[in-house]
Amino acid sequence: MKTAITAVSGQLGRAIANRLITETGKDNLIGIARTPPKANDIGIEIRKADYNNRKDFDEALKGIECLLLISSMDHPQNRIPQHRNIIEAAKARGVKKIVYTSIVGDPEKNGFSPVVKSNRQTEEDIKKSGIDWVIGRNGLYIDPDLEYIDQYIADGAIINSAGDGLCTYTSRGELAEAYAHLLTQEVHNGKTYHLVGNPISQAQLAKYINDAFNTQLTYKAISVEDFRNNRIKDLGQLVGTIIGGIYEGIREGAFNLKSDFEKAAQRPHKSVPEMIEAYKQFRD
Ligand SMILES: NC(=O)c1ccc[n+]([C@@H]2O[C@H](COP(=O)([O-])OP(=O)(O)OC[C@H]3O[C@@H](n4cnc5c(N)ncnc54)[C@H](OP(=O)(O)O)[C@@H]3O)[C@@H](O)[C@H]2O)c1
Repeated sequence: MKTAITAVSGQLGRAIANRLITETGKDNLIGIARTPPKANDIGIEIRKADYNNRKDFDEALKGIECLLLISSMDHPQNRIPQHRNIIEAAKARGVKKIVYTSIVGDPEKNGFSPVVKSNRQTEEDIKKSGIDWVIGRNGLYIDPDLEYIDQYIADGAIINSAGDGLCTYTSRGELAEAYAHLLTQEVHNGKTYHLVGNPISQAQLAKYINDAFNTQLTYKAISVEDFRNNRIKDLGQLVGTIIGGIYEGIREGAFNLKSDFEKAAQRPHKSVPEMIEAYKQFRD
């Protein structure tokens, strides 16, 4: 089956492409990228397409039977029409199956909800398209927390508003393995999976980071409002509100979900220490 991956120059798209190359080879795999030179090193055919441009996707999806649609990074209100460009082009080109990388979380209650809500709309748009579908609702990546360790060390602590809330983190590496199965196995068609790992608190996250990196971090909980204001000061209104909303969501339990990962990947999800170890090996 000729398979295409959108946003293949990004970290998730690239990880999934590399996983599929290992499992099924390069011949029937096409990468789609807004900026093709960033993806040339993957070693597969790369076609150019911008999520804002339907015509790009009419061209890029010629001959494609199975499509992995990686959710857009744009403002939540822009994502829905961008994804519709791709779904409409897929319909026009006779694509047989769409696998969509959605997100877990609450669509109504916090600053991250507009992102979740836009993802839910795309899920509906895909279901209405008449094309076979699989939806993976991705857990929060643990990777950004590990990239942020120097800042945590400078602060002497992990400081946010999650409180005692539990979060079922995943990683791009774990997701890549799950998506390789969702793309290549028909048994998943028509299913929505929560692709998440095991629940941990921020205090446990600090301990796991200390064990792996020989740091002495503690966890300090601050109020939802203080954390949001602090993030808006550093990152601007849009991103600051979204990051504040993510930790508010963790506090409320919106990211503590029963995992369907094993159904997708046919093995248990890695524990947090195992994900940290995989991250260290990949980085070194
Ligand atoms: N679960 C989580 O914790 C979490 C965290 C962050 C993001 N996400 C979601 O997961 C997705 C993939 O994450 P990632 O780690 O791969 O992000 P990433 O490394 O930042 O990559 C983003 C990708 O989106 C592409 N892109 C941006 N705007 C585009 C447009 N208008 N048309 C076509 N491509 C466009 C970029 O292309 P260029 O190379 O041209 O810039 C890049 O390939 C994100 O898009 C986001 O929806 C999830």
